[in-house]
Amino acid sequence: MKAIRLSLTPILLLLGFSLSFLVQAADAKRGFDHFETGFPLIGKHETVECSDCHFNSQFKGTPLVCSQCHNGSRAPGKHPQHVNSSNFCDDCHSDYTWTGAKYDHSDVQGACQTCHNNVVAIGKSASHIQSTAICEDCHNTITFDRVSRVDHTAVIGTCESCHNGVIATGKHAHHIPTLSACDDCHLTTLTWLGVTLDHSTVSGACSSCHNNVIATGKAQDHLITTEECGFCHTTNSWLPATTP
Ligand code: HEC
Ligand code: HEC
Ligand code: HEC
Ligand code: HEC
Ligand code: HEC
Ligand code: HEC
Ligand code: HEC
Ligand code: HEC
Ligand code: HEC
Repeated sequence: MKAIRLSLTPILLLLGFSLSFLVQAADAKRGFDHFETGFPLIGKHETVECSDCHFNSQFKGTPLVCSQCHNGSRAPGKHPQHVNSSNFCDDCHSDYTWTGAKYDHSDVQGACQTCHNNVVAIGKSASHIQSTAICEDCHNTITFDRVSRVDHTAVIGTCESCHNGVIATGKHAHHIPTLSACDDCHLTTLTWLGVTLDHSTVSGACSSCHNNVIATGKAQDHLITTEECGFCHTTNSWLPATTP
């Protein structure tokens, strides 16, 4: 009797084991609650065959990190032209699709221009202002539509090549009439105001400017005269006036 009992034990054990195996296999077919593994099968993973992730029916120790599978050997990985990025695929991608990635700049490497060159990512359009390749001097990573500032150390060309009222602010309608280069008078790129006019750079009758619209003109109680201002005034100061 003792001998029989002893030989039965392994049989029962074997039976129990194969039973639990059968239950597991059936569960797997029915849709095992994968959520509890800490790696929910959502998005495209929902339709991936168990065996495409669990090689040789190995469950435990299956990689959890995207890049450990999506490396071009276990599962498709980054193509060679992929933007230079870290290996945390899910910073930018979801389990649903590789396209339409949200772009997280926090871990990008390299200067903006290495990507923003119209090959890897959106770059300057044909009508972009002439500038150096140091995009970061004027742009942030949120949007290209508004600049953070226009850093004039990164612009290329003369002031008037941009400041013509089309590409960038130009002379307004009441600007003093002049064909001179902007930087003959505007000595800073920080503000248009506060120019001290050097009269040797201007031509035309005094009254073409000194008419109370473009520049200081005669006050209402000014003595009545049709003569040009220069007849009685110098360009240094209105006073003293000389009445010939
Ligand atoms: C997209 C990949 C992927 C697919 C498809 C997938 N799994 Fe998993 N599975 C994992 C990962 C990752 C783990 C977590 C492994 C770990 O924590 O060690 C896991 C864990 C498991 C575990 C638990 C292992 C343990 O002992 O902790 C079981 C059981 C399992 N999967 C069964 C299945 C079955 C059945 C299917 C098919 C219906 C399936 N898996 C499909 C990736 C996948
Ligand atoms: C355990 C391995 C494994 C892990 C971890 C894993 N995947 Fe996958 N994934 C796969 C496999 C296998 C496929 C199916 C690939 C195929 O058939 O082309 C797949 C498919 C995909 C697809 C669909 C691809 C397509 O062409 O439609 C996307 C998107 C995806 N995974 C994103 C991710 C992201 C994001 C992560 C990290 C959060 C991740 N995967 C983690 C194995 C894994
Ligand atoms: C810093 C962000 C970022 C990271 C990190 C990142 N990607 Fe991408 N990925 C992108 C961008 C942006 C695209 C282009 C998306 C588009 O064309 O809609 C892209 C495209 C792709 C594509 C091609 C999509 C297609 O069909 O055109 C695949 C495949 C891909 N990534 C896989 C990966 C894998 C695998 C990882 C991790 C090893 C990863 N990516 C990490 C941003 C990232
Ligand atoms: C000197 C400043 C400056 C530099 C440097 C600069 N930009 Fe710009 N960028 C601008 C200005 C100004 C606009 C117009 C947006 C506005 O009106 O605020 C603009 C607009 C854009 C736009 C949207 C409209 C368009 O013209 O396409 C893109 C895209 C852009 N820049 C990309 C770039 C890239 C890429 C670089 C680096 C290779 C770069 N920019 C360097 C000033 C600059
Ligand atoms: C490693 C590559 C890479 C680098 C470096 C990089 N970017 Fe990007 N950037 C991308 C990709 C990819 C996108 C999303 C796809 C696209 O817009 O072409 C993007 C999107 C953007 C957008 C949003 C564009 C839009 O219209 O939605 C801005 C703005 C931007 N980047 C600015 C910058 C600036 C500024 C720098 C430098 C400080 C920079 N990027 C550096 C790859 C890069
Ligand atoms: C490549 C184009 C470009 C060139 C060259 C250029 N600028 Fe600008 N500048 C801009 C843009 C764009 C702005 C901002 C938008 C605007 O004012 O229209 C700007 C803004 C300014 C401002 C206003 C600053 C503020 O914050 O109010 C001044 C002043 C200025 N520029 C002066 C100059 C002067 C002077 C020169 C020549 C030495 C010059 N710029 C050359 C494109 C240019
Ligand atoms: C001969 C000198 C001279 C030249 C050349 C000149 N400006 Fe001016 N500009 C002035 C003076 C003077 C003012 C008035 C400054 C003030 O009110 O503080 C002025 C004012 C401006 C203002 C208005 C500031 C405001 O908000 O009222 C703008 C814009 C401007 N200039 C743009 C230009 C541009 C663009 C050029 C070149 C295409 C240019 N200027 C060439 C002398 C000049
Ligand atoms: C192209 C336009 C222009 C012409 C031409 C011109 N001026 Fe001026 N003048 C200005 C501007 C602009 C200022 C400074 C702003 C203001 O006073 O309205 C100025 C300032 C002055 C001042 C004040 C100087 C000070 O520092 O207090 C005097 C005086 C003056 N002009 C006299 C003259 C006389 C005289 C002539 C003719 C010989 C003349 N201007 C021709 C534009 C002109
Ligand atoms: C015939 C001579 C004459 C002519 C021409 C003339 N002025 Fe005068 N202007 C005077 C005299 C005189 C005064 C008063 C001086 C005094 O109060 O000591 C004066 C005063 C002024 C003052 C006031 C100075 C102050 O601070 O009180 C301004 C401004 C002025 N003139 C502008 C003009 C302008 C602009 C023109 C040309 C459009 C012009 N003047 C033409 C003789 C003239």
